[in-house]
Amino acid sequence: MKKNDLEFYDLSANQWWDKNAKIYALYYLNQPRFEFFDRFVPHWQGLKVLDVGCGGGFSCEFMAKRGAITYGIDSSAKCIEAAQKHSGENSLDIKYKVGVAESLPYENNTFDVVICVDVLEHVSDYRQVISEIYRVLKPGGIFFYDTINRNFKSRFMMIWLMENLLRLIPPGVHDWDKFILPEELKELMLSLGFFEVEMKGFDLFGEIGFVLGELNTFRKNLKFDKSFQVFIRKLIQVWKANFINYQLYRKTGSFQISINDDMSIMYIGKALKNRETL
Ligand SMILES: C[S@@+](CC[C@H](N)C(=O)[O-])C[C@H]1O[C@@H](n2cnc3c(N)ncnc32)[C@H](O)[C@@H]1O
Repeated sequence: MKKNDLEFYDLSANQWWDKNAKIYALYYLNQPRFEFFDRFVPHWQGLKVLDVGCGGGFSCEFMAKRGAITYGIDSSAKCIEAAQKHSGENSLDIKYKVGVAESLPYENNTFDVVICVDVLEHVSDYRQVISEIYRVLKPGGIFFYDTINRNFKSRFMMIWLMENLLRLIPPGVHDWDKFILPEELKELMLSLGFFEVEMKGFDLFGEIGFVLGELNTFRKNLKFDKSFQVFIRKLIQVWKANFINYQLYRKTGSFQISINDDMSIMYIGKALKNRETL
């Protein structure tokens, strides 16, 4: 069984902008994610921004349309080719490059904003990537990211359910061992000199996250008393709600995502580079 199968992105490159392709699900993450980013950067016009692991360019186009001077880098040459083709067709001036996030080909202190979304859980060395992002940000510049937590719930939802059972994500795209605990990421960022580190839940699954937490408690304690019955009732309730949400996704393609305090599966955040850094 493959894990962290990056070949999937090469193979999907030609379909990146095809509304019917699986990869297009990533497109729908941008609206809610930028609702969070906009809290800290209300005006993008004229800012120099870099999208690390930009794929076929969903977020780059989002930022370019808001007037940002946009750069995108990805290790997949095929994705960059697809991104260039699409931005060209839409007359967007985006500076794309093939390259790896662990060794960014940009000068120190270059960007006002760097984003890295849905990528940290795929790279070979996320510590090196964050350190590179720190280096290329201007002093006082802002880093935005989202990624996946590493625990029982994320294994259940992202690997077993989304990949193996529902096949909404192709099996083998993720490697659970590469998922990152929020506290690990925060500690790393603070050690590099980032400050004002903030994180929130990027919640695609609503209360199903809560139910899985309960399930995990039962799994550990193996106590099937009255509270177990309450749990089962709650599970049915939540399953129904999520099933309706899932049907909606199948019909319209879009997700209902909340930014909240539940970081147990996916989380989103921001951090500022130390202003004193030269
Ligand atoms: C899940 S996709 C996300 C794409 C894009 N950020 C988005 O949200 O639409 C992950 C991307 O990370 C890229 N990637 C994986 N490892 C990388 C690395 N070490 N350096 C640069 N890009 C990488 C893959 O090629 C792929 O395009």
